[in-house]
Amino acid sequence: MTYARNDEAFANVTQVPMDRNESARAICRTGDIPDGEAIAVDAVLPDGEENLIVLRFGEAVHAYLNICPHAGRRLDWAPGKFLLSKGALVCAAHGASFMAASGACIGGPCRGQGLRRVAVRVEAGEVFLDAGRAAAGLSGTSD
Ligand code: FES
Repeated sequence: MTYARNDEAFANVTQVPMDRNESARAICRTGDIPDGEAIAVDAVLPDGEENLIVLRFGEAVHAYLNICPHAGRRLDWAPGKFLLSKGALVCAAHGASFMAASGACIGGPCRGQGLRRVAVRVEAGEVFLDAGRAAAGLSGTSD
């Protein structure tokens, strides 16, 4: 069997270096997150791919690993669907509640613990991982 070679088929393929800076890629747009709500997004962090909770309150955007400190379960009741009550994020598994702005658990079985924050920044309506802040040991929000 013979195969025809078509070099032009690869002419427009963009090659991305393996060591590319993942933080340069937006994880979502602020418009994807209804004000006062949260969505789930997959992102590549230095330790590997993780599912993130991304919350927005006006201009402020907060991101956390979608891992509850109580039993290690996801917080959403269905993929990407989160319970929020009075500005607190509520874990669908056993009801722990977390302050949206800090990730601190304020009620439930893991009171005193907290969600693991992922540093993000907002530029031109897009939410980016903020590798610089994470590398410096800082965490925070876009506000
Ligand atoms: S796993 Fe979240 S409260 Fe138990």
